[in-house]
Amino acid sequence: MNNNLNNLPIGVFDSGIGGISLLAKMVRTMPGEHFLYLSDSANAPYGTKSCNCIRDVSLAAARLMSAKGIKALVVACNTATSAAITYIREEFEIPVIGMEPAIKPAVEKNGKGKIIVLATPLTLKENKFNDLFRRFNCCAEIIPVPCPGFAELIESEAQPEEIREYLTHIIGDAGRVKFNKVSTVVLGCTHYCFVRDEISQVVGPQAVIIDGTEGTARHVLRTLEAEGLLAAASSSGTEVEFLTTGAPDRVIPLCERFFDKALGMIGK
Ligand code: DGL
Repeated sequence: MNNNLNNLPIGVFDSGIGGISLLAKMVRTMPGEHFLYLSDSANAPYGTKSCNCIRDVSLAAARLMSAKGIKALVVACNTATSAAITYIREEFEIPVIGMEPAIKPAVEKNGKGKIIVLATPLTLKENKFNDLFRRFNCCAEIIPVPCPGFAELIESEAQPEEIREYLTHIIGDAGRVKFNKVSTVVLGCTHYCFVRDEISQVVGPQAVIIDGTEGTARHVLRTLEAEGLLAAASSSGTEVEFLTTGAPDRVIPLCERFFDKALGMIGK
């Protein structure tokens, strides 16, 4: 164990508050770690931009985190993972962990009915999702539903009625999916974890809602263990620090509110 490295923070980034859903799971899974969370609000949203643009802004975010001194980087964003993780891994030697829509567990647990995947337009366009889709579409009916503007709506702390109205339109009217036929909803964007209740209210109680945060948090733990990078037992306890490329006066308190919400959701 190299104590200097072990005591460095784990860097985490997303376009905004979405990745805080994963951050909270990691805090619970790895007490004693220090986390640096970057909300790349100056470049948000990611999901409706081009792949090249998101590759560039994600690399810039990774460089910013790396310059702060981190022992691992978690890309807490499905969109940035799809567009940029290969490039980030090429440039940095530290472990880089990303996210992908949890289609495999959805098919394994509940492959009989319709599985809808809610994600940003860019995530659903990219190879990562399309490879997963081809791999599992033979044994389940998978329906991708792009959700432009949804991350922004969640981030604006919209009222539950507005969230439900958006979902009714995007899944039912635009996506032409009959709610009572849905067996599973895969949350393919970290922002959507904050509106699980509204999703369930719209789609109905028969639908299981699956997100990748739990699995990713465990994957980060296993990776740090394997690399001998976990914080020393003598560490001073969990620390979380928020950074932003946006306006700190607005974004940092927003991050703190969503972090409390995310911890509350785990406790539920
Ligand atoms: N939270 C991000 C994701 O998981 C993207 C949100 C956005 O900026 O469009 O894909």
